[in-house]
Amino acid sequence: MSNRVYAAFRSVGAYVPSRVLTNQDLEKMVDTSDEWITKRTGIKERHIAADNESTSDMAVKASEVAIKRAALKTSDIDLVVCATVTPDYFNMPSTACIISDKLGIKNVQAFDISAACSGFVYALSVAKAFIESGMKKNVLVIGAEKFSSIVDWSDRNTCVLFGDGAGAAVISATDKKEEAFIDIHASADGSYADFLITPAPGSVNPATCEVIEQGLQYVKMKGNETFKLAVKTLTKDVKEILTKNNLEGKDIPHFVPHQANYRIINAVGNALNMSEEQVVLTVHKYGNTSAASIPMAINDIYESGRLKKGELMLLDTFGGGLTWASALIPFAPNS
Ligand code: ACO
Repeated sequence: MSNRVYAAFRSVGAYVPSRVLTNQDLEKMVDTSDEWITKRTGIKERHIAADNESTSDMAVKASEVAIKRAALKTSDIDLVVCATVTPDYFNMPSTACIISDKLGIKNVQAFDISAACSGFVYALSVAKAFIESGMKKNVLVIGAEKFSSIVDWSDRNTCVLFGDGAGAAVISATDKKEEAFIDIHASADGSYADFLITPAPGSVNPATCEVIEQGLQYVKMKGNETFKLAVKTLTKDVKEILTKNNLEGKDIPHFVPHQANYRIINAVGNALNMSEEQVVLTVHKYGNTSAASIPMAINDIYESGRLKKGELMLLDTFGGGLTWASALIPFAPNS
């Protein structure tokens, strides 16, 4: 038996807020139509958190499910990593600290990751590194977003795209090579920082009445430029990770792309010769939930009985930063 320690994807959980906002609802708010949104994005509806429901509240609900499904106690968790760009509080404390407290986890290392839509896969790479180095045994990885809190509800370019929600996974140490994460690739190019940006609050634009009046606290996106770059970068990235690991599109039962736009997902799926059954799609019902989108999508195939023990997932994502990432991970529940 080898002494090497590997990271295993033990469990997943998700939480979706109850309030549904349909394309028809948006037609009453901005100059848009169900037809435009459906044709350009594939989105039909998205869920919006209650006013008194924070990112950490949603994250806690997803985490409780994931921890239970991993057959662990909260006290077994020794690292909490939360990927979010809509934290409970900008700057401090981190949302991961608040989540840990609400879950009752004491003396735990906890921090946030800011990589927008790529955050969950970035966080998985951190979990992998901590586990393989022997520093941690059970890492709670969360992607949670209350994007409705940074959306300008009068801007039709952005408000139709996003939704709220949370997903979580437990990543644990294993000595079984067949359970191990196969590969993760994560990258960034900050020269495209202005493609997706919330200009305030921050050290460049500290919160002032003027900044708020200008609406700099809202997400701004160069949608079309981001779209083109996403298709190009993701296609190249997923092809590279497959080739590097001697795999082809046909070897992947579950392709779980970031759920931003059906057209992006379709273009990348086609480039890999994927069939409809292989490609996981949730964008029609959740919209773009940023860092929460991939774990929410994995939860969907888990709860519908499609994701079975040992089956391989190809994750891929693209988001603000700009950042992108892909991962090859087998589903490795305890039982
Ligand atoms: N309803 C009706 N018309 C609209 C709407 C709307 N909601 N939004 C924009 N339009 C109009 C525009 O004003 C424009 O009109 P014009 O031609 O008269 O100027 C026209 O529709 C076309 O606009 P485009 O921006 O060119 O449309 P496109 O086909 O690119 O679709 C979209 C826009 C859906 C935003 C697409 O570009 C996209 O999905 N981009 C990528 C998003 C993404 O992947 N983001 C990364 C992750 S997000 C994150 O990290 C948080």
